[in-house]
Amino acid sequence: MIEKKFEFSGVLRFNHWVRVATMLVLVVTGFYIAYPFLTPFVNDEPTNFMNALWRAWHIIFGFVLIGSTLVKIYLFIFDRHSKKERISFFDFLSLRIWIQQIKYYMLIGVHPEGRGIYNPLQFIAYFIIFINLFIISLTGLILYMHVYHEGLGGMLYEFLKPFEVLMGGLSSVREWHHITMWIFLLFIPIHIYMAVFNSIYGKSGAIEAIFSGYTWHNKKEKK
Ligand code: HEM
Repeated sequence: MIEKKFEFSGVLRFNHWVRVATMLVLVVTGFYIAYPFLTPFVNDEPTNFMNALWRAWHIIFGFVLIGSTLVKIYLFIFDRHSKKERISFFDFLSLRIWIQQIKYYMLIGVHPEGRGIYNPLQFIAYFIIFINLFIISLTGLILYMHVYHEGLGGMLYEFLKPFEVLMGGLSSVREWHHITMWIFLLFIPIHIYMAVFNSIYGKSGAIEAIFSGYTWHNKKEKK
């Protein structure tokens, strides 16, 4: 007998898809900033400003990404529905669950009965992705303050300049911003593969959960 389990709240799911959309736009516009792959129509006057346009959209979506990351952090710490995410930290500390999880992925064991919703490998992967989000946002803001010197850019300057110096100057900041994009590009296919694997092999409907909020479980199982 299969039973449904509520896993992800509406806000959390909405926030997830906002991040998917923003990252997609940021990767495409980011690639354009790095290697401008389109040329504007030839014009007598330098009025096309195509690069500035792509950069402006990149920055707008960059701020949406920063906003949605802050929402996610808030949900993780304070949201009632996200309690199961927080509890996953205790599964992360359990050697028994680590071993069972690795055996499961090697197809020689059953899925461990954890207390939270993320297994230890998942937990550490998401934690690294959060550090990556932090670095891409920090380097993005440093690049931003050199584009817009007034308003928010000007306000951030004093505070973020030491980080720029620590990273070895603006060109290194740009390099780090670019490298962290590639960490996302590596993570995304692995993330999708694991979700499909758990959904089909694990019969948990893991993919369904990020759309409807529910996963499926065998009734005799505790989880
Ligand atoms: C998933 C998130 C992001 C990705 C994949 C991404 C990607 C990129 C890439 C590939 C570049 C070009 C770097 C190079 O020249 O090699 C770039 C530049 C830039 N990004 Fe991002 N970025 C992201 C987030 C952000 C955020 C959060 C901000 C800040 C609001 C931001 C602001 C900028 C700025 C200002 C530039 C430099 C524009 C210039 O050099 O004229 N980015 N980004």
